Amino acid sequence: MPKPLGSSSQAHLLREQANAVQLYLQYKGYHWNVAGPRFRELHLLFDEHAAKVLETIDALAERQRMLGAPAKYSVTDLVRASNLESDAALPTTPLRMIERLLVAHRTVIAGLRDGIRAAETDGDPGTLDLLVRTLQEHEKMAWFLREQASPVPPSPEEAAAYGVPSERPAVPLGPPHAGPAPLPGRAAR
Ligand SMILES: [Fe+2]
Repeated sequence: MPKPLGSSSQAHLLREQANAVQLYLQYKGYHWNVAGPRFRELHLLFDEHAAKVLETIDALAERQRMLGAPAKYSVTDLVRASNLESDAALPTTPLRMIERLLVAHRTVIAGLRDGIRAAETDGDPGTLDLLVRTLQEHEKMAWFLREQASPVPPSPEEAAAYGVPSERPAVPLGPPHAGPAPLPGRAAR
């Protein structure tokens, strides 16, 4: 269980900077390793989100400088400050990758909401504004991922590729060149 950060908005900025570094690497890892029939779509989506997360790192670090704190950059310091779980192993399917990313976004969104409350308590509207904008970015990325993971069961081809059961019936293609069905109430000529 991570330690609560109290009301210091600077501590929240550091934690979210560290989380963003970790989430950036997680996205790049999935961008590199994703495979299967949705390769191109997910390879590109993961890279787009990696770039969005990367942009947030700079603003979170620089805001700490504005508050008079040093901006931490060593891997050791950032790992210590992050409250995201690292993957024990590469997820085995694209859907698992999306689920892992949604868990990470959920943690970041909860942390940002705490940080927003801390910035309000600290009377720090500059940090509050940055955290609100960062929150909106994460909410949008989580929405995109949820839509990608929406319950479309795997097709027989996807099921074969990922080694999971197929829950989607094969779409019957019908006879070739069958032509459109006649409209109701009109006799076929
Ligand atoms: Fe790339």
